[in-house]
Amino acid sequence: MLDPVLHDRAALAQLQLTRLRETLAHAYAHNAHYKRSFDAAGVTPDDLRGLADLARFPFTTKDDLRANYPYGFFCVPMAQVTRLHASSGTTGKPTVVGYTKRDIENWAALVARSIRVAGGEAGMKVHVAYGYGLFTGGLGAHYGAELAACTVIPMSGGQSAKQVQLICDLAPDIIMVTPSYALTLLDEFHRQGVDPRGTSLKLGIFGAEPWSDSLRREIEQSFAIDAVDIYGLSEVMGPGVASEFVATKDGPVVWEDHFLPEIIDPDTGEALPDGEEGELVFTSLTKEAMPIVRYRTRDRTRLLPGTNCAARRIARISGRTDDMLILRGVNVFPSQIEELLVTCDGLSPHYQLELTRPERMDELTVLVEADPAQGDAPAAQLRTRIKDMIGVTVAVRLVGPGTLERSAGKAQRLKDLR
Ligand code: DLL
Repeated sequence: MLDPVLHDRAALAQLQLTRLRETLAHAYAHNAHYKRSFDAAGVTPDDLRGLADLARFPFTTKDDLRANYPYGFFCVPMAQVTRLHASSGTTGKPTVVGYTKRDIENWAALVARSIRVAGGEAGMKVHVAYGYGLFTGGLGAHYGAELAACTVIPMSGGQSAKQVQLICDLAPDIIMVTPSYALTLLDEFHRQGVDPRGTSLKLGIFGAEPWSDSLRREIEQSFAIDAVDIYGLSEVMGPGVASEFVATKDGPVVWEDHFLPEIIDPDTGEALPDGEEGELVFTSLTKEAMPIVRYRTRDRTRLLPGTNCAARRIARISGRTDDMLILRGVNVFPSQIEELLVTCDGLSPHYQLELTRPERMDELTVLVEADPAQGDAPAAQLRTRIKDMIGVTVAVRLVGPGTLERSAGKAQRLKDLR
């Protein structure tokens, strides 16, 4: 079922080395940022003799992407860029990513592969409830499902009542959705008095945010489906960088013919051996429009040996090495909220974020100090700006001047009360 190279570690390593050489040469020759950063580190693509030499090359971070906003990481003329997507930046400026026609084809092939190993077959119907638009989830899943010869139902996120109706009426076999939105749908099934175990769904492919094995069990039992994990990030491609086999459900397999994973110590940047937990770093091996060299994902995990094939797996993402939150599938940086807060009239810059889980869904409350004489208008304004600019609904609670804890060093903005 899989490309034979994924069953042969030596052949896979050889392919990775060939593709890595091409990627480094392409990035160095066609991108001013990579040229500068390789030169500053005293390396050129010719210094790569074996895969281990990659450790001599500089990392790429979200800050680098921000500094080169919007197109500074592209390595082909804009006329060859077929599509753009974007994800949250740490400030109001998003991170923009681009794809050539071939990049889109490779991406679709990897999502199609992910659907296959999840148990999805040609002729099945796929209900895509990842958001469509700049987020890579919807269109990434869509193109992959089409290539997998499935019938796609491009529902996108939101409109829970309609989602339930369409699942009942159109009879999909597969749902692709964030695990948290799956729980919202579960509640909606119950609200409508429809048994979620009685639908046509057989399989769910869940990702875009951290989830646990206990949530997997809950989802599998509540919907009577198999639930597998799909991982990815916009900067590296989108969904389908790694994906789980339904046969084993033992962690997403990194599609190592297209992406080279490393685990590093987040503090020192030193490479860690397989099995040890650290920060996941990716180098793309086939991307044309925006090859990415040693991208620091900020996701904490471990690399595990392959079970279904020679490609390695990642353990469940156990956390982040930065302060990014994922609220109902939307990436949120505290710095984005701060940036909006200071533009609202009547709010002080003293704020704190409280993360709670009243039932099963995470909720974020922004506590801001403000003069009580102003009433609730500044809170409403901030709530609207956050919804408009970041795309999430949060609660805003105004508190009296001087009530929030003052920092005596690095501000502790986030209180995790879950
Ligand atoms: O979330 C791409 C995606 C869409 C993956 C649909 C899977 C399904 P970004 O918006 O750039 O891209 O967010 C990437 O989300 O660095 C992780 O922190 C988190 N993430 C993605 N998949 C998983 C997963 C998409 N399966 C960021 N488990 C990543 C845990 C995940 N975290």
